[in-house]
Parts: sequence; C-alpha cells; structure tokens
Amino acid sequence: MSNQRDQWSSSLGFVLAAAGSAVGLGNLWKFPYITWDNQGGGFVLVYLACILLVGMPVMMAEIIIGRHTQESPVPAFEKAAKNLPLEKFWPIVGWLGVIAGLVILSFYAVVAGWSISSFYYCIKWSTSGYVTGDVKFGEFVGNAPLQLGLTLAFSLLTAFIVTRGIAGGIEKATKVLMPVLLSILVLLTLNSFTLDGAGQALAFIFTPSPMKDGEHGFLEALGHAFFTLSLGMGAMITYGSYMGKKESILKASAAIVLLDTLIALMASFIMFTILFSFPSVVEKMGKSTAGMLFVTLPEMFYTEMPFGSIIAPIFYILVGFAALSSTISLLEVVVSLFVDKLKWSRIKATAVSSGVIFAFSVLCALSNGASAWLSNFKLFGNADSGLMYSLNKTFFANKAGFMNAFDHLSANWLLPVGGFFITLFVGWVFPAKVAADELGMLDEQGNPNKLFKTVQFLLRFIAPVAIGYIIAKVMLGTDFA
Ligand code: PFF
Repeated sequence: MSNQRDQWSSSLGFVLAAAGSAVGLGNLWKFPYITWDNQGGGFVLVYLACILLVGMPVMMAEIIIGRHTQESPVPAFEKAAKNLPLEKFWPIVGWLGVIAGLVILSFYAVVAGWSISSFYYCIKWSTSGYVTGDVKFGEFVGNAPLQLGLTLAFSLLTAFIVTRGIAGGIEKATKVLMPVLLSILVLLTLNSFTLDGAGQALAFIFTPSPMKDGEHGFLEALGHAFFTLSLGMGAMITYGSYMGKKESILKASAAIVLLDTLIALMASFIMFTILFSFPSVVEKMGKSTAGMLFVTLPEMFYTEMPFGSIIAPIFYILVGFAALSSTISLLEVVVSLFVDKLKWSRIKATAVSSGVIFAFSVLCALSNGASAWLSNFKLFGNADSGLMYSLNKTFFANKAGFMNAFDHLSANWLLPVGGFFITLFVGWVFPAKVAADELGMLDEQGNPNKLFKTVQFLLRFIAPVAIGYIIAKVMLGTDFA
C-alpha cells in the first residue's frame, strides 16, 4: 500500500505536487469570475483574510496528519485518533473528503475540457487569423456532444495518469510546466500594464468596496479559500503522507499559499484589465462570467500582445495542465481510499471511481444549456418561498443547474465543514507535542515552543470559530451586507 503512495522522488516533490494541486482552475477560472460577480475589493479582502487565518492553519493541520500517519485520509484518521476521544468519529471526516472529491471532480473535468477546445481555437486563430466573437460561449457550453466529448477526454487523461503512478509523469512535468505557467502569467501581467484599463482593474481588486450580497460573499470567500488551496477533503493529508520528515511543514505551506494567492491575483488583474479596456468584451460576455477565462483572454493575446499568437496556444495547454495536476490529486484521494481500505488494485480502483465520477460529470456537462431540465435543476424544487425555497437558498445559494449546485455544495459546504473538523482534531484532540514535533516547533526541553502556541491558537480558536460563525450565520439566513 505504501509502495503506491510513496512516490514523490525529489525533496521538492511535495511542494511541487501540492502546489500543482492547489494551482488550477480555482485560480485561473473561478477566482476572477467570482471576484467580478462579488464586485472586487471587499470580497478580495475577506478572501485574503480567510486564506491567512483559516486556510494556512488548515493546510498545516492536514499535512501534520498526513506526514505523521503516512496514510490516505480515512486510515490516517483511524491511526491518528487511536485511543483518543471520539475515536470512531474522526475517520468519517476522511469519508466526507472522499465524497467532496467525487463531487468536485465531476464538474471540474467539464471546465478542464474547455481548455482543450480553447487550445484548438488558438491553433486555428494563430494559423488563419483571429476572429473576434468566433466563440459564442453560450452555444459552446450548450453543445451536448462537444461537452461530453471534451469531458470524457479530460477524464480519461486523468485516469490514465493516476493508474500509471505519479512521480515519472506528473512530478517531472510539474517541474517544467509550473515555472512556464508562472512566466507566461508574469508576461501577461506586464503586458496588461500597457493597456488603458490597468488602473481601473487594480482599483477594482484592491479598493475595499462593499459586496453586493455580504452573506453570500462571505461564504463564497471562505469556500473559495478551501477550494483554491485544495483543503478540507484530505488532498493535503494524502500528499503530506509522501513528504519527507526533514522538510519544514511551515515553509512548505507558506510557499504553497503564497504561490496560489499570487497566481489568482495575477489572473484576475489580467482579465479585469481586458474587461476595462475593451467594453465590448464585457457586452459579449454578458451574464455568463464563468466563461471569462475562455472568452476575454484571446482578445488580449490576438489584438494587444506582441507574439500573442504564439503564446496563446501555449497558455491554454498550461491551463489544461494546471487543471490536470489538480484533477489528479482529486482522483488520487478517492483511488487511494479504495486501494487502502478495500485492497483493490490501483487499476481497478481508478476504473471504478472514474466511471462513477464520469456518470456525474455527464449531468454537469449537460447542465449549461444542453439539457433544459439539468440546466434549471434545483434539488428542492422551484418554489419562491417556504421551506423548500429556504433549503435551496441555504445550501445552493438558489443557484440553478446541476453543475452550479455541485460547485456550490462542495466548495462552500463540504470543504469548509471538513476543514472545521480537521482543525478541531489537530487543535484539540491530537497530542500537541506530536504536532509541534511534526512542525519542528519543540524547544530544547522538548516542549512546544512559542511559535507553536500561535499556530495552536489559530487551530483551536480562530479557524474553527471563523468557519463555524460563517456557516451558522448562513444557515440562520443572516445578511452580512
Ligand atoms: N485547488 C484546485 C484549484 O484551485 O483549481 C481545486 C482542488 C483540487 C480542490 C484538489 C480540492 C482538491 F482536493
């Protein structure tokens, strides 16, 4: 069992793999459009607070459990909680993570598939000329065979790599491609400064303006902090279990968090600059802000950027790759459970879990226009008031459509709830000395040092109270605006 998981080869392996998991569509696709929808500055500020006060401690907590037990989430909790209070409860948190992984991967694969088609269009534009408005996003996402084909292609690619093991393929590739992605983003950022809309974009991101819907915005900022850092579902427990004992968990977590935040902010700056510079792009985008990454950027590449027609196709390959290193970690959480608990072979575990996930992916892929029923789907019906309406509002922010519902449920509920229990476990139940030892925070007498006390305070109070408070408020229907 540990043969299969013990795969990152280099000492940098963990940081790269974990950063690969964290940096993905959450940064390039989701963060820009939810920031746009939530009107910028105020939302960004809340988000940054969530990253620092909640995300960072939960990240350390997950890695502590993973590295200490050297197990995937369910057995990790079984081992870590042995003979401790509520021993039987904690592994359930691991199971919850597996469900979250399944739910996230089913819609993530759909969006990841869009990068394949963007790549195809870029090749076409680079060779035969760019046509503004060539891709009508609404028509594209409503095309059933195309959506299913792209999703299937991406799912197969993910499954293939997971069956093959990871070190040889994804770890090596991450080492090259992550720096390339970062370099292209820096280039795009520099180029954005030459456009008229740059000042407005910066002001939009960094001026703390009030949010349109405060309650929703708070939950979304918290949820996105979990989503973007791959927290709350045991992905970092799984990856932490491959981490060498000598490496610093604090430094690794800080590096991952910093990189992830930087990339999300750069991506938003680039896209908003285009939106402020070319008002016609905003018109074309209309209400479907979810298409931002795929609709706005080509405009910049092909009309405003030197060598844009060479960089554009490379960029969308990298978007696909960033998504791939995240889908692999999502699938790995599910697969490693089957391998560890049911003793299935890696191939069987991957085939079965990918099959089940793809069945849900089909529902997501068809819910952006291809099927009217799935596109308008609400779990608790379409009532405008009453209990069913409240349930839809509380759990799905009243969003219609299968994919939107899955996205909201996983990012804003499953992950924060998972993270809540993970911090409680490491903060209150898990022996402090062992945690401090994992963090390299013992003093000469072998007692937890001052720095550990700070981390412990975040884990015991700040993180769980913040998560609990926001979730309770949303459940009670309070408006934060
Ligand atoms: N962090 C990934 C992103 O931002 O795209 C998404 C993700 C990957 C979430 C892995 C959760 C996870 F376990």
